[in-house]
Amino acid sequence: MALILAADEPAIETAASTLAEGKLVAIPTETVYGLAADATNGDAVARIFEAKGRPHFNPLICHVSDIAMAERYALIDPLSRSLIDAFWPGPLTLVLPLKQDAGIHPLVTAGLDTIALRMPRGIAGKIIAKLDGPLAAPSANTSGKISGTSAEAVADDLGQKIALILDAGPSEVGLESTIVKVHGDAVLLLRPGGLAAEDIEAVIGRKLERLDQRAAIQAPGMMTSHYAPSASVRLNVHEVREGECLLAFGPVRAMDVELASASLNLSETGNLREAAANLFDFMKRLDSLGGTVIAVEPIPFNGLGEAINDRLVRAAAPRSLSTDEMEQIK
Ligand code: TXA
Ligand code: MG
Repeated sequence: MALILAADEPAIETAASTLAEGKLVAIPTETVYGLAADATNGDAVARIFEAKGRPHFNPLICHVSDIAMAERYALIDPLSRSLIDAFWPGPLTLVLPLKQDAGIHPLVTAGLDTIALRMPRGIAGKIIAKLDGPLAAPSANTSGKISGTSAEAVADDLGQKIALILDAGPSEVGLESTIVKVHGDAVLLLRPGGLAAEDIEAVIGRKLERLDQRAAIQAPGMMTSHYAPSASVRLNVHEVREGECLLAFGPVRAMDVELASASLNLSETGNLREAAANLFDFMKRLDSLGGTVIAVEPIPFNGLGEAINDRLVRAAAPRSLSTDEMEQIK
């Protein structure tokens, strides 16, 4: 079973030296917990895929502790640079041209000539600075399961497969980072996430270009059923059916709460930031009750609502297709 350490200075040292040995460490970031490995060590990165049980070698996000480290591995155009200046450290990942032979193992980028980079806030940044090298880190969860947003959730899911988990309490944002890629004058939104599209648009003075659903499936790691709980998920529910588990949003409706076999409210005040932070934890908690249906009240699409709805649609996607079959939709 993994050792869980409170993320203080000695634990940060231990995490950095464990990573330097090529082992996996689950680390807190402001978005979700990451399953981290030294991005320059192919053996270590391969362990990530092994531990997650990922069917394919999708490209992974690489985490850096400062802009200088990002520049070691990627070419940064002026538009990307303005986004970095505005939002790093924070929940924004940029896909950038990779500097070949700079040391990133090709398993991290799945052999692409681009690399996805982000600078996380807090503990993760300190670990990377101590290691003085980038960390490849997908969300710390088994492939197809809900992303871990607490050390306990990570231990439940992956505790048998990794040596060390650093505990810094529940993730502040609760959703993975927003991924964008500059393409000429356009900025493509590859994955909605913990930074709202509107905030990015305010900085770049133009609208983000969105991929359609089919193209989104083609983006590696964007399989429709990615965030699946065991229960089936019913969205946009205005009236809960008796016995369903209710994932509510906004003012409590006593009638619904009474009919539901269990209920949790993402945010009684309708705050999307609070809802994002609660999303994965509450889905996991309702799912663990063993009910057959999780009924979800409507969530608005503005701000972080876009990413919340994206994850909910994936959670609700039919499971008749295996993960492998989903990949074949390409
Ligand atoms: O919040 C987050 O981003 C979390 C925490 C741990 O930092 N990390 C995370 O990483 O979600 P990961 O490795 O699961 O994200 C992988 C996604 C892939 O689904 C793919 O869409 C995109 O990043 N990606 C990675 N490299 C890419 C590339 N070169 N081109 C396009 N997309 C890429
Ligand atoms: Mg994930």
